[in-house]
Amino acid sequence: MAIKKSVFRRTIKDPRDPEFYAESIRLKNHKADLEKQHNSYRKGDFMEEREFRHYDFLFGEVANDGKSLLSWLKELYIKQKGKNKDYVMGILEDGSGKGKFMFELAMKLAMLGIKFRSTAMSLDKNPDLDKMKQGHLIDEVLYGPAEYQVLKPKSQDVIVSLAGSLFHTGQILKKDLLLKFAYALKENGQMFVGFGINPISHDLGMRGGLSPTQNKELNKDTLDKQMQNIKTALLKRGFKTEFYDANVYISELIKKGVEIGHKYIDLMQDVPAIVLKIERMSDKEYAEYNSLRSKTALQRRK
Ligand SMILES: C[S@@+](CC[C@H](N)C(=O)[O-])C[C@H]1O[C@@H](n2cnc3c(N)ncnc32)[C@H](O)[C@@H]1O
Repeated sequence: MAIKKSVFRRTIKDPRDPEFYAESIRLKNHKADLEKQHNSYRKGDFMEEREFRHYDFLFGEVANDGKSLLSWLKELYIKQKGKNKDYVMGILEDGSGKGKFMFELAMKLAMLGIKFRSTAMSLDKNPDLDKMKQGHLIDEVLYGPAEYQVLKPKSQDVIVSLAGSLFHTGQILKKDLLLKFAYALKENGQMFVGFGINPISHDLGMRGGLSPTQNKELNKDTLDKQMQNIKTALLKRGFKTEFYDANVYISELIKKGVEIGHKYIDLMQDVPAIVLKIERMSDKEYAEYNSLRSKTALQRRK
């Protein structure tokens, strides 16, 4: 008797909806692999207590032209508030650990009078995050695998992910997961992903870029190629992408004769060294980019 193949049908047709990628992940049906992955994360001994200064170093100093995260957020807030007096900044953290970053951020933003709505994501329930939610320091905590979470389109101004689910998920789902987060960004919203390229296990990090297979022969050339592929894949979809290497940043400081103190040393011991920064184009910019792309393609064909 022939085995009847089950037919999966997409219910979400719009590839600019984060739910499209949550559905792709569900349809790929890697439930058993994912469970294995999550259980192996649970058994691992990972750092879950990085502080605001660690994030600020990677996502501010290294990936934002030396500008602190706070001054960048303040500028963004003033700009958006000028356009819309009811503006509330959307901030999402993928993989909040014990919530140290979210806690300090909430304090700092409150001191600046910045109105925000924050979401923390964590694989497992965590009492620190629960307390912060009760104390109104976080608005929402999403527990469970990020792979299955549903995110609202254009809901976030800033997404940060430092050794979060994007780092820990299986290679086969990285692209869907990344795009799900990226499409949750508002126009001109930015996402910062911190990850290592020399991880303990082949399953971690971004060894295969966004392709479904791992690249075990990782070297400078293959890495540059992967980064270029990621940039191209995202640009086509309306996202501008940059990569930054914290180790390169630090060696440049040393070359310039800057005294490297405790700040950098303790940071580099257990902190992912590469930052991927993604900015969503405005719809207007994306339409202009697409029309330029089709014009160039037409000219080439002539
Ligand atoms: C190594 S900790 C990093 C925590 C924090 N960002 C830091 O740097 O201290 C990884 C975080 O990602 C979360 N995480 C790992 N895999 C995940 C998954 N598949 N879905 C959701 N969260 C995940 C864990 O719950 C944890 O909060």
